Amino acid sequence: MTAGINAPGRARIPVRSLRTDRWWLPPLITNLGLATFVIYATVRSFMGEWYWVDDYHYLTPFYSPCISESCVPGSAHFGEWIGELPGWIPMGFLALPFLLGFRLTCYYYRKAYYRSVWQSPTACAVAEPHAKYSGETRFPLILQNVHRYFFYVAGIVAVINTYDAIVAFHSPDGGFGMGLGNVILLINVIMLWAYTLSCHSCRHIAGGRLKHFSAHPVRYKLWTFVSKLNVRHMQLAWITLGTLMLTDLYVMLVASGAISDLRFV
Ligand code: FES
Repeated sequence: MTAGINAPGRARIPVRSLRTDRWWLPPLITNLGLATFVIYATVRSFMGEWYWVDDYHYLTPFYSPCISESCVPGSAHFGEWIGELPGWIPMGFLALPFLLGFRLTCYYYRKAYYRSVWQSPTACAVAEPHAKYSGETRFPLILQNVHRYFFYVAGIVAVINTYDAIVAFHSPDGGFGMGLGNVILLINVIMLWAYTLSCHSCRHIAGGRLKHFSAHPVRYKLWTFVSKLNVRHMQLAWITLGTLMLTDLYVMLVASGAISDLRFV
């Protein structure tokens, strides 16, 4: 190898790093966190059951919007646009690729998985295993630039999830009802909005390419608001992975009859 730390003129250091702290811990934790979510979400997306609680109208975000004739009665909030789906197509197939694309191309997740999974760079002052570095200038990583378009679709999905959370205020006798499931769905959707609006693309759309903020007071206010959220983007990225899994788990447990929903109204 003639690139990176092995390039001519670089000091010859036989060990991978002279760091004595546990530099491998953050990438390891990131890997474990991402793997947990990917495995959980994949298994649940293909299960094809326990995603809808008919009594209380709880729909898990992993199956929303449900738009096929395979959806259990009541769960297709926006109608059944297509026929039965084969078992290998998840029922939330319409939104899933975009949500996956949104997270995969997210600036924070890129940093996380470039370091932990792709090991480029692994950590400060730790040699990476790759011989060459082309960054995001070539295929396939140049495709990360489509993030802004995934952001637009993620905004639509957030609206759909908000609608799901509103129609879930339902009682088995008809009319208004509220239980612990509503609180969980609501927290999840608030966190999803916070994560989506804290997106770097959103910040740029709100206030980017302006020469004078004073000439655009509304955009300046939007940019200021998004900027406050943006500094918490990493935390929101992890929180929403947690709230998505928790929401789905709760809906699954109630829908399968493993637990009963705690009802307040
Ligand atoms: Fe993370 Fe856009 S930068 S969602």
